[in-house]
Amino acid sequence: MLTRRTLLKGALVAGAYAGGIGLAGRFGGLASAQAATTLVARPGEAMITDTGPTRGIMTYGDAEVPPILRTRRGEAFALRLDNKLDEPTTVHWHGLRIDNRMDGVPFLTQPYVYGGDGFDYAFTPPDAGTFWYHPHCNTLEQMGRGLAGVIVVEDPADPVFDAEIVLNLRDWRLGGDGQFIAQFKPRDAARAGTFGTVRTANWRQSPQYDAPAGGLVRLRLAATDVTRILTLQIEGADAEVIALDGNPAATRFALDHLMIGPGQRLDIALRMPDAEGAVAMLKDLRGTKPATLATFRAVGTSLKRSTGDLPALAANPLPEPDLSAATEIPFILSASAEERPKDGICGSLGYNFWAINRVPWADDSGDPTAPLAEMKAGRTYIFNVENPTPQVHPLHLHGLAFRPMNSSKQAIRPHFSDTYLILPDEKVQLALVADNPGDWVFHCHIIEHQKTGMTSYVRVT
Ligand code: C2O
Ligand code: CU
Repeated sequence: MLTRRTLLKGALVAGAYAGGIGLAGRFGGLASAQAATTLVARPGEAMITDTGPTRGIMTYGDAEVPPILRTRRGEAFALRLDNKLDEPTTVHWHGLRIDNRMDGVPFLTQPYVYGGDGFDYAFTPPDAGTFWYHPHCNTLEQMGRGLAGVIVVEDPADPVFDAEIVLNLRDWRLGGDGQFIAQFKPRDAARAGTFGTVRTANWRQSPQYDAPAGGLVRLRLAATDVTRILTLQIEGADAEVIALDGNPAATRFALDHLMIGPGQRLDIALRMPDAEGAVAMLKDLRGTKPATLATFRAVGTSLKRSTGDLPALAANPLPEPDLSAATEIPFILSASAEERPKDGICGSLGYNFWAINRVPWADDSGDPTAPLAEMKAGRTYIFNVENPTPQVHPLHLHGLAFRPMNSSKQAIRPHFSDTYLILPDEKVQLALVADNPGDWVFHCHIIEHQKTGMTSYVRVT
């Protein structure tokens, strides 16, 4: 067991850039970067609309916006959560394959961190990439009010970019006065989920970032909203997807109407326009009218770079499923009309609308049912997931990485992931090696679906 002191010494914090991306400090707009080995969860206010500060915000850290945490693959990372909210919370490290005790799920992996208490998280991320962190307790409220931040795990061998911009993409449910309105409507929770009213990137409406003209920018996008699925496009510049959900794409491909759901991440190589002042736009084309999420303005004389100059990202050390010896496990998503769940002290929504394999689990009832599947450490499993519902569901598995294969509806790009966006009437296979012992939650990341039953967990022993 490492001592807390050694762990703290090993921790790399926000704002410490790896060599070679020094320009990011000038161009990256990472204003919220801060040095912190303590992460305070606290109430606050934030300037999200121009009608004045939004009250009732929940955030992490000293700045308005949760800090971008940075660490390195294979290095010990330690962080103390200090809960200054007046309700319990935890931190889940979405996508990081870490020790089960650090996974942040109340009742399953750790006790509540009550207001006034703290919890020491310590882990060594095995994979580099773009990940994020958020509570796993009263999540519709806590995430809806702000608790969601990005954690970047760097690989010292990563290719050199001219700048890096991290975007935390999310909505807010605010009324015309800029104040919170009811987080959800039951009839929407039973459908696609209740949408926010104000779209933001890094808590700003359509912010603009400067980046070197003709330069290569690494955009790290995290879809942290509780509900919204995005169809992303870059206009005014060439953009290639280099990683999906933290893991390198087997081959880079042009970003073209790519759908990502809550919980998913995308790393993009953006080749800035050559002309000084020219602007590239990140758009979501999914809604009834396209939304500009952020703009990037070319600054200086062109660096004349080409995405062809970029070496591939190094692969993460993920175990390759052995399909010849795999055990298949069925998972069927469905609506549920079971009786009202027990109240949890951590914010039950009070309804059951959804289920996995007919079991609805409101995961803060304090009374989880048995695991939906038990797996043997080191063996390969294939999750045969079916979605006969009319909704799209971003399914997230904690602690393990899977390879999506054989979809009945979509062309699958070979990569490893932790969150799969399953379409209505789709059947898909998710292949994985159960290499990380523990109880791992498997749930829809549309939080209203999760909190009204589309949650379960699997056990690896
Ligand atoms: Cu992003 Cu169960 O979490
Ligand atoms: Cu869902």
